[in-house]
Amino acid sequence: MIILAVSGEIKGRPIATKQAACQREVAARNRDTPEPVKSLTANAQPAPLTAKTSGPLKGHIRVPGDKSISHRALILGALAVGETVIEGLLEGEDVLNTGAVLRALGADVQKKAGRWHVHGFGVGGFAEPQDILDHGNSGTGVRLMMGAVATSPVTATFTGDASLRRRPMKRVLDPLALFGAEATAREGGRLPVTLKGAREPVPVTYRLPVASAQVKSAVLLAGLNAPGHTTVIEAEATRDHTERMLAHFGATVRREQTADGTAITIVGQPELKAAPVRVPADPSSAAFPLVAALLVPGSQLRIDGVMLNPTRTGLFTVLKRMGANIAIENERSESGETIGDLLIKSSSLKGIDIEPEIAPSMIDEYPILAVAAAFANGRTRMTGLAELRVKESDRLAAIASGLKACGVKLELGDDWLAVDGGTMLGGGKVETHMDHRIAMSFLIAGLAAKSPITVDDTSFVATSFPDFVPMMEKLGATFARPNR
Ligand code: S3P
Repeated sequence: MIILAVSGEIKGRPIATKQAACQREVAARNRDTPEPVKSLTANAQPAPLTAKTSGPLKGHIRVPGDKSISHRALILGALAVGETVIEGLLEGEDVLNTGAVLRALGADVQKKAGRWHVHGFGVGGFAEPQDILDHGNSGTGVRLMMGAVATSPVTATFTGDASLRRRPMKRVLDPLALFGAEATAREGGRLPVTLKGAREPVPVTYRLPVASAQVKSAVLLAGLNAPGHTTVIEAEATRDHTERMLAHFGATVRREQTADGTAITIVGQPELKAAPVRVPADPSSAAFPLVAALLVPGSQLRIDGVMLNPTRTGLFTVLKRMGANIAIENERSESGETIGDLLIKSSSLKGIDIEPEIAPSMIDEYPILAVAAAFANGRTRMTGLAELRVKESDRLAAIASGLKACGVKLELGDDWLAVDGGTMLGGGKVETHMDHRIAMSFLIAGLAAKSPITVDDTSFVATSFPDFVPMMEKLGATFARPNR
């Protein structure tokens, strides 16, 4: 059963002089940056955990369903006519919040006999929600849903937890305004946002200013209920699950190469038809046991049914270049995506230079890659990382301070990081800043480091990988609750 959590808390802002307020407003309008905060440990009851040096990790696992596909399956199921049955949905908090929001907007979303059933209301059929829509920790959930709602005649207020409330929403509110939607946001385009959907939406052509699948998807979902053709142009390829799934539900989607990049066009106001979805295993979640098996000597691991969409497999490519022993078996196609089984053996890694062009295909994997780099021989240099500053935490800062707490030597720039391998000692206490991937990455580091590593809060792991700790324990990982 999913519950709509409603947060009415909006933190008070300090009273500033008129001039300072004005300067802040101008700066905020011109930038799409996170709100500066010292520390994000908003959890009243944090759940710290210590990872200890472990023996070989061995086993055969399936990691949870892909988070990106799970959000989209629920959203398109709600926008379709008929019943969509979803198998393997990720039951992490992020996705459950999207389900709860869709129910508040009139969809019937239920779990029956292990599968999720969505009875949709058709494109543009949203009911006006009676309360605030709370997306918790999920940037994907809120940005996609604001896009979907922006061209329907309803008014809705969106919010999220302390991490999500500091993330930039201007990047989606700007293109949504072109359709005719009106948004009122906090300073700098931050949540809570009240969105009045366009009563007479117009189609849009939009060139993405940042390589973001969330922005692309928000525009395409808004374009669904605008008459005519809506086009998004992306200079760098970002994950293409929205385009693929729209076609799976019967929409007409065209891709064309132009001088500015790939133009993706959707024909507006289709009748989407309910379609079954089997959610493949999430490569971003597979990354954690995979790197653990590479780093802990003597390990051997098999991970089944992992999605291998080329817009998501940058980490596997990079790790292989670093010398990782990863084999792919049984490549096959499922619900329009390529999947395969991964076989991983512990490996000695070498540091390399990683080019910025590969960043969009592994944008969520830099925390665990940085951990792998800390155990490699030589320096690994990662560039093109500006987007990491606006994830669930300022991930670039969180990675760097976590590594430093474990003795790792590194250099940090605005959008790059160089890690000196072989300098990982462990023994540190790592701040996770409400970020699931920071927590999981440093727990993996602790399994291979000489001294135990403690992370300050594991509660956010449930947003994407609820069974992470027991699954790793089954493979042979040693965790302990620290004495406080
Ligand atoms: C996602 C896109 C990525 C990624 C996020 C999921 C998606 O964000 O970081 O975890 O499902 O579209 P950006 O597209 O903003 O880079």
